[in-house]
This record gives sequence, C-alpha cells and structure tokens, in this order.
Amino acid sequence: RAGLKYFGAATDSPGQRERAPYPESYAQYDEIMWSGEFGQTTPTNGQKWLFTEPKQGQFNFTEGNIVTSLARENGMYLRCHALVWHNQLAPWVESTQWTPEQLRKVIVDHITNVAGQYKGQCYAWDVLNEALNEDGTYRESLFYKVLGEEYITLAYETAAKADPTAKLYYNDYNLESPSAKTEGAQRIVKLVRDAGLRIDGVGLQAHLVAESHPTLDEHIAAIKGFTKLGVEVALTELDIRLQTPATAENLELQKQAYKNVVGACVQVCGCIGVTIWDFYDPFSWVPAVFPGEGAAALWFEDFSKHPAYDGIVEAL
Ligand code: XIL
Repeated sequence: RAGLKYFGAATDSPGQRERAPYPESYAQYDEIMWSGEFGQTTPTNGQKWLFTEPKQGQFNFTEGNIVTSLARENGMYLRCHALVWHNQLAPWVESTQWTPEQLRKVIVDHITNVAGQYKGQCYAWDVLNEALNEDGTYRESLFYKVLGEEYITLAYETAAKADPTAKLYYNDYNLESPSAKTEGAQRIVKLVRDAGLRIDGVGLQAHLVAESHPTLDEHIAAIKGFTKLGVEVALTELDIRLQTPATAENLELQKQAYKNVVGACVQVCGCIGVTIWDFYDPFSWVPAVFPGEGAAALWFEDFSKHPAYDGIVEAL
C-alpha cells in the first residue's frame, strides 16, 4: 500500500525445510506463504554461492529454482539474493589463494551464470551483500583482500550485463538509522555510479532488536540519505528479535519497532518494498545465531499472530 510496490516474506525452499524440525506445520505454513498474504518473496538460501556453484564451474539451481518458480506461479515479485557475499560461500572459493586475474574470472563466471539463470525473473538482485564494517570501511573479505574496491565495480558491471532488467542493489544490515555505515553504503553507490555503471537500490536488511529500536525519524533520515542519491530503498530482511521468552511487554516494544520501520518506508517516496525474513518464528534464523533471542517474526509457532502484525497494518 501507499508507495510500496510489495509487502513480502522470504522463505527457504521446501527442499531445505525438509531438514528443519517442524514438518507437521508445512501445510499451514504454505497456505499463509503462497495464498495471498504476501505479494513478494526472496529465497533465503537457495541462490547463495554454496548452493549455486558448489564446485568451480559446476552450477546447480535445484534449490534456487524452487522458490523462484513458486514466486512465478503465484504471481509474486521476486527479489534475488545474493551474488557476492563473504558468507555461505562455496568452500572451494575460500580455500584457494587467488591471483587478481583468477578471482576476477571467478566473480564474472559466477555472476554471469547465476544472474543469467534467473534473467528477467528478478525484480531486484542483491549484487553485493554486507561489504562494510560498522565504521563504514570495507570488510576485509577475500574479495577485498585480493582485488580491493575493484571487485565491487566488477560485480555491478557483470550483473548489469547478465540481467539488464533486474534492479541492482547493495544490501547490508545496520543501515536503518544514520551512521558511519550508512555513509559507507552511500559511498558504494557513488563508487559504482562514478565508474559509469548501474546501481539502482540499497537494501536495508533491518534485522532489528525490540528492546533498543530506532525512532521513526531516525529510520526516515537513513532512508532519505539513500533516496536523495537517486537510488530506491527496500527493507529486505526485516525481523525484530526480542529477549525470550516473549512477554506482553517485549511484544509491545516489538510492535512499536515494526510500526516505526514499516511506517518510515511507507512515508518516504522511493522506499518501494518490505520483505520480512520468513514470517514464522520456528523458521527464523535468529535463535541459532543470537542465543537467548527469538520470536522475531510475525507468526508464533502455533500460527497465531504477534501483536506486531497489527502494528504493521496500522503503519500501512
Ligand atoms: C541467513 C538465513 O536465514 C539462514 O537460514 C542461513 O543459515 C544463514 O543466512 N543476512 C543475509 C541473509 O543477507 O542471507 C542471512 O540469511 C541473514 C543475514
């Protein structure tokens, strides 16, 4: 609603969910996921490097094709995620000492094949994911160590050739209120532009914390910092974790936090969409990565809704 093109939810492929611990709930899950609640989806894992190019030059789209096909069958916007990232890389990429020339070819081959596979299907691609440290300097990933800034422009140049119609995004976390890191992301936008290349959007992952969330005005300022450069913005991986167990108090903080961030996106022209990073607490990545925290999504394990669902409805 408002200026939003979509409100969506990321999901894992059923292939990956079969290895997760809640098989009896799939039917109810699928009903919510694919039957009209959401207008957009993102595969949470299936298009990442370790799935798509597990061995050098051997491409495998089995996992990635599951969610992308469901998006098409259900007439949903598809965000594609992620071409160049230091995490969930295939082991062969990490265990080799690359020369600059070799690594350029690795990046070009990967992007050409993966973005080529989904050509014309992705509303947007997260071309580069999490390239920044908190102080706005570049993360010392293997890509940066071997190629410096050049790996960034190479990634956008290659993605633009492989899929001319997909919007090309930079995507990162902790970009939801103004900071040295948001300035770093603005610098990446300018770097790509100044090289004469295309970058269309910045994704604010928005992995937020209920007990210490930014204000509406801070969110608006961060989003405008990007839109004033002429790129669009999306909330790409929204979830808001809390200290478990969930209580009436922390669920109320979570509701306010969801309302603020979605409200900010709705209020800024150029913030075009919101994606929650799965909608169902048992499938959320949060408890495994942040011990003691959870209940970050919008549906509890018993499929009742968090109060935050109403907070979002109020914001839209
Ligand atoms: C997470 C997935 O949700 C997990 O299933 C996986 O084990 C790790 O990655 N930032 C990103 C996402 O860009 O790709 C991450 O997704 C969460 C943090």
